[in-house]
Amino acid sequence: MTAELLTGIAELTTQAAEFSHDDDRLRDAALVIENGRIAWIGPAAEAPAADSVVDVHGRAVLPGWVDTHSHLVFAGDRAAEFEARMAGQRYTAGGIVSTMMATRAASEAHLIANARRLRRDAEAQGTTFLETKTGYGLDLASELRSAKAAAEVADVVSFLGAHVVPPGIDRRDYLDLVTGPMLTAVTPHVDFIDAFCETGAFDVEECREVLLAGRAAGLGLRLHGNQLGSSGGVRLAVELGCASVDHCNHLDDADIDALAGSNTVATLLPACDLSTREPFPPARRLLDAGAHIALASNCNPGTSYTTSMPFCVATAVLQMGLTVREAVWAATRGAARAVGREHGPDAVGSLRIGGRADLQVLDAPSVAHLAYRPGMQLCVATWTEGVRARPLANRDLST
Ligand code: NIG
Repeated sequence: MTAELLTGIAELTTQAAEFSHDDDRLRDAALVIENGRIAWIGPAAEAPAADSVVDVHGRAVLPGWVDTHSHLVFAGDRAAEFEARMAGQRYTAGGIVSTMMATRAASEAHLIANARRLRRDAEAQGTTFLETKTGYGLDLASELRSAKAAAEVADVVSFLGAHVVPPGIDRRDYLDLVTGPMLTAVTPHVDFIDAFCETGAFDVEECREVLLAGRAAGLGLRLHGNQLGSSGGVRLAVELGCASVDHCNHLDDADIDALAGSNTVATLLPACDLSTREPFPPARRLLDAGAHIALASNCNPGTSYTTSMPFCVATAVLQMGLTVREAVWAATRGAARAVGREHGPDAVGSLRIGGRADLQVLDAPSVAHLAYRPGMQLCVATWTEGVRARPLANRDLST
């Protein structure tokens, strides 16, 4: 058992405080990693001896990003659809079928390699914990293959058989498949069930049926809701006690009140909103009302082809009215809540003594630089469960 001391930390964001508005940043701090866990946190001047020392020379340290919404198991891209959107076409769920066809046609090795490539990109930007979904297979064999591939690359997997009804199958028959044999096949490989509650995808009653089947199979619940209109998804998610309802672009006062009075996290996806030109969700109103929020990348080839959590954090600050502290919270500890990992021995998104050593170092003295210098590669190193990732080629911590 060896101990590694990180010292010279100008600003240490632990996210140990209970609320996003409590500023618990420590200055001139140090921490010790032992056995994949945080063994000590405190002032650098009081740090204990360790087997090895990493001096980060006045940089900021914070938990690694917890990205709780991505769709990494796919083949192909949809750049032409994106270009048409930027020329004025509106996003609809219809494009999902073109990715479904490319995904079905790809080999398993290709799907895994592509998902791994995206995960590596995410890690280079500071992500240390990641959820991903099925949802581009949409028949039993292809969803099962996607679930297995997802389980190889992600920390948490959601089954999204209810993404859209694929061509060539009756709607009722497809729902019976998703809630029956397909669910049975994928359950050993997944943690959550998810559904897309939207015009062009599934309505509230269909999503209820899917989520209840998933619950009966022992899965956690999450839902895509209120992305393109007032789909009723948010209210359904609150009613069923979903861990998270994602997108939340179109909310009325009653939706906000419902979220504020619940434990369901509103997961906001700013990169997707830019790519679909949907209005941003009312993040400020959600927080002020007392709702829990998270930020996630929603990396997928249709609506958000990025794994960059710093981009999402910067956008949330610059365009959605969050403070830096709130946005960083939402992408770490708030996100951990959205996958049921805020507390307990497997908690992520915070740095606590005895907790997982999942952290990142910024090439900047404070987290404010994430929004102050948008688009810059600020992450210079990550540790995941105490293991340091290979530093980026042009970066080091020596000065
Ligand atoms: O989260 N909204 C549903 N699913 C994805 C988009 C999928 C696609 O268009 O390929 C999303 O944005």
